[in-house]
Amino acid sequence: MKRSVFLYLISSFVISCSSGQNSPKENQQQTSNQETTDENTCSWCGTSEAPENVTWNAEIPIVGESKEILMISGTVYLQDGKTPAKDVIIYVYHTNSEGIYPKNGDETENGKYHGYLRAWMKTDSSGRYQFETFRPAPYNSHEGEPAHIHYNVQAPGYPEYWLTALWFDGDPRITDEYLKKIERSGGFSNVTTLTLDSNNVLQGERNIILEEFD
Ligand SMILES: [Fe+2]
Repeated sequence: MKRSVFLYLISSFVISCSSGQNSPKENQQQTSNQETTDENTCSWCGTSEAPENVTWNAEIPIVGESKEILMISGTVYLQDGKTPAKDVIIYVYHTNSEGIYPKNGDETENGKYHGYLRAWMKTDSSGRYQFETFRPAPYNSHEGEPAHIHYNVQAPGYPEYWLTALWFDGDPRITDEYLKKIERSGGFSNVTTLTLDSNNVLQGERNIILEEFD
């Protein structure tokens, strides 16, 4: 099989499946490969694309018709589960209200695959992060997978890795079969319960405990 076709197939698989990704060790190897061989070997990555002025607070622009506004926040902890982890880059991206990853055509790097509904944050001294966006729709290309927001994490001095995507409590697609597919919840549940606040914003939380690497 030609290398380009192989890479395309790999990319398609990774992009369309939030749970079919690598172990932390494989991530480490893959990130290393990315630096030395071919940028396309890490089509799920994105933390290295964070803007220089990244902060703990981000916003994904909301355009078009009225949507359910979400504010997702959380705290990242060191491996002890108690000490806040500062300066951790979190990269998130998701589908639009039609269940696709929309693109303008001028995206760079992995924006070509993930689209423009993405954001980066860097945890503050208390380990906090938050981002505002709108509620994504589940895929329109294949049925069954819960609506989700992809999460990647990169702590200072450690390789980037992915977490099982954030899901929303009450989504009927979160079946027992899908619950078995949770590979890395990040130390806390990856299913957030959304609560409508007085400003009509759905508030959700996802806390994260950093992975240990060999
Ligand atoms: Fe996805």
